[in-house]
Amino acid sequence: MNPIIVSHVNKTFRTKTQDIKALQNVSFEVEQGEIFGLLGPNGAGKSTLINIMLNLLTPTDGSVLILGEKPGPRVLSRINVVAGGSEFHWALTPRDILSFYARIYQVTNFKERIAQLASLLKIHHLLDRKFSWLSTGERLRVAFAKAMLNRPKLLLMDEPTLGLDPGIAKDVRAEIQRLNRDTGMTILLTSHYMHEVEQLCNRIAFISKGKIVDIGEVKEVKLKHFGTYEITVTLDKKPKASWVSAHALRVEENKIKATLKDEESLSTLLAMIHESGYRINDIAIKKPTLEDYFIKVLHEQ
Ligand SMILES: Nc1ncnc2c1ncn2[C@@H]1O[C@H](COP(=O)(O)OP(=O)(O)O)[C@@H](O)[C@H]1O
Ligand SMILES: [Mg+2]
Repeated sequence: MNPIIVSHVNKTFRTKTQDIKALQNVSFEVEQGEIFGLLGPNGAGKSTLINIMLNLLTPTDGSVLILGEKPGPRVLSRINVVAGGSEFHWALTPRDILSFYARIYQVTNFKERIAQLASLLKIHHLLDRKFSWLSTGERLRVAFAKAMLNRPKLLLMDEPTLGLDPGIAKDVRAEIQRLNRDTGMTILLTSHYMHEVEQLCNRIAFISKGKIVDIGEVKEVKLKHFGTYEITVTLDKKPKASWVSAHALRVEENKIKATLKDEESLSTLLAMIHESGYRINDIAIKKPTLEDYFIKVLHEQ
């Protein structure tokens, strides 16, 4: 059974003046061991969904199964969460914070476990400083250590790199990838930093105004909206006109331009050039990025 199964979830927040439909008929599954990205603009419903998984909110209707169980105390001991901008009591030290949570999670040999995590996340030197003295990046590493205490099978991450400088955000991404690779932990990540999602996630769901607009592999969803990408190959000499027209290519001086659908047509094209005795001096590929996708899909809404 997949670690996350969301079926027909609706969540409506009723306020005095209006009903806010934060989630509307949302269904998807996250598979074992994958890093799954939940994308969407601010207010799309991403945090609402994560909070339902954590049993902090209950859906208006529909159901959620986490590791085969309804969200609740039993499953909370087997999962964990990291949210960007995590706060702990300002006067406590990371050692106090981690010891406190280790007790909540009933971690045996907790001193050893904290030492292990401190070295994993490079926070040894921070363990006895006050939390309020730590920088944003250091605080996040403490939040990460807290999230790893109970060796979760599933990690939920809500905008983990929010507000981090690019260098630290890069370290955090590397950490996420390493934890996923080394421990096989399943990760659900929300983010609106597209390059981050592009780098980390294999599959994504795009959510807008509480509804899933697209779901699938990053490559697939991009292809669905763009279909093609452009390649320019610079050869050592001007290609023969007959050869160019036979393969329906566009040519400019010693450059060949083509519109491709997939990687297979790229290798076919390159093999063809090579077999015809041309040397390739340069290749430029213009592929739509996930950011191009995000903006296009938002405009279409
Ligand atoms: N407790 C709440 N009461 C009323 N409205 C809420 C509450 N929490 C979230 N919302 C609204 O639900 C929508 C989705 O919010 P959220 O899930 O936080 O979006 P995201 O995390 O994708 O930015 C927003 O319109 C937000 O204002
Ligand atoms: Mg949010």
